[in-house]
Amino acid sequence: ENESTVSITVVGASGDLAKKKIFPALFALYYEDCLPKHFTVYGYARSKMTDAELRNMVSKTLTCRIDKRENCGEKMEQFLKRCFYHSGQYDSQENFAQLDKKLKEHEGRRVSNRLFYLSIPPNIFIEAVKCASLSASSGNGWTRVIVEKPFGRDSESSAALTKALKQYLAEDQIFRIDHYLGKELVENLSVLRFSNLIFEPLWSRQYIRNVQLIFSEDFGTEGRGGYFDHYGIIRDIMQNHLLQILALFAMETPVSLDAEDIRNEKVKVLRSMRPLQLENVVIGQYKSHNKGGVTYPAYTDDKTVPKGSLTPTFAAAALFIDNARWDGVPFLMKAGKALHNKRAEIRVQFRHVPGNLYNRNFRTDLDRATNELVIRVQPDEAIYLKINNKVPGLGMRLDRSNLNLHYAARYSKEIPDAYERLLLDAIEGERRLFIRSDELDAAWELFTPVLAELEVKKIIPEYYPYGSRGPVGAHYLAARYNVRWGDLGVEQ
Ligand code: BG6
Repeated sequence: ENESTVSITVVGASGDLAKKKIFPALFALYYEDCLPKHFTVYGYARSKMTDAELRNMVSKTLTCRIDKRENCGEKMEQFLKRCFYHSGQYDSQENFAQLDKKLKEHEGRRVSNRLFYLSIPPNIFIEAVKCASLSASSGNGWTRVIVEKPFGRDSESSAALTKALKQYLAEDQIFRIDHYLGKELVENLSVLRFSNLIFEPLWSRQYIRNVQLIFSEDFGTEGRGGYFDHYGIIRDIMQNHLLQILALFAMETPVSLDAEDIRNEKVKVLRSMRPLQLENVVIGQYKSHNKGGVTYPAYTDDKTVPKGSLTPTFAAAALFIDNARWDGVPFLMKAGKALHNKRAEIRVQFRHVPGNLYNRNFRTDLDRATNELVIRVQPDEAIYLKINNKVPGLGMRLDRSNLNLHYAARYSKEIPDAYERLLLDAIEGERRLFIRSDELDAAWELFTPVLAELEVKKIIPEYYPYGSRGPVGAHYLAARYNVRWGDLGVEQ
């Protein structure tokens, strides 16, 4: 194993994602001694830059974990020495051949494994894959390519992209990232379900009234309007991040923890779902808002967004899984930008206790809860269960309280960024957390018809003020299925 080497090439090295996530994650892995002994990191982009300039750029992005400050500066120096830069066009085989030459110099006679991280816009995707594959594949080890969404914008364009990719790569070389799968609490979902006695028996229509998957951000598209306007929130968040969580939440028990077994179950549950219908969707777009003397912009104030754009920055949707376990249970999704908080969570609302003896012992109806399990993916990771409890004292009054697993209190460790886990998995060839092509197809099938309908019918989004809780239409949609959004309650 010592005699192999891995070269990691970040294609699109000066982009936002590379700076914010990829380089810092690689450094964190290096710091944790998770990278192979022989490794090299290459930045690849069009602009001219020297190795020293790349190192300088990367060094500004690196951070140390709070609990691991010692030697951090030294480690950074060592890491930066392993970073290099190659300037080239994304569609030039010649430029990739030059990269190949440089990589070979580092690799020497070792078995050389190569990982390409494509952090570039979709229109140059295929060309870059072609050039990397034809001119810079490893001669004696593996070559893997990590790709980021967007994977097309509907079933058809996604299938075309898959087809084009497969001209140059085998499916097992393609690592499609959905970075939500690398988040600690998303990975923990299966542990919670399959490694505890008390959840799985309740995990069905018999006990669960509804499931809510909620994503909110307290900032707008700032600077990303050009990309975003072509996609919208349904493609940006729901079709991938929230749907992936849903699949893990709702799938049947896999045969094993092997990547193929897990992904088989995810595909199965996605294929049991009903394509989303227009009547089950509410869309919104944020408008300008004044608060405390500050003016927050409207989505369409973004210079990169076309005037009069109808692209949704908020959506709520009701989805259904037509199988024996979930028949009739609404899975409600809500995703939005420029809302009042930043949060991602899963909320499971359980049924009422039939003939509850204690109904009269609550002060108000609001005090009485049906049990609700909340998995807070971020920020401030937590899992808590709302239960009805006796308020201590001589009388018999009940309230609702939380059984609370608060990560910061329970585990003193800082939680690794999703990209760390995913990069490590890609290096190790672990595919469990990456999206298989049939899974991607199944995901698009659910959203493609409604996305087309929204566009063809030019459905006007409901405008909501920047920083608000989003359009009221989301409440009506939930109410139609007898659901109240759990994140709007009094506490947490
Ligand atoms: C990305 C979306 O996939 O996820 C962004 O394109 C979004 O619009 C981001 O902001 C959210 O990721 P995280 O990890 O910050 O919750």
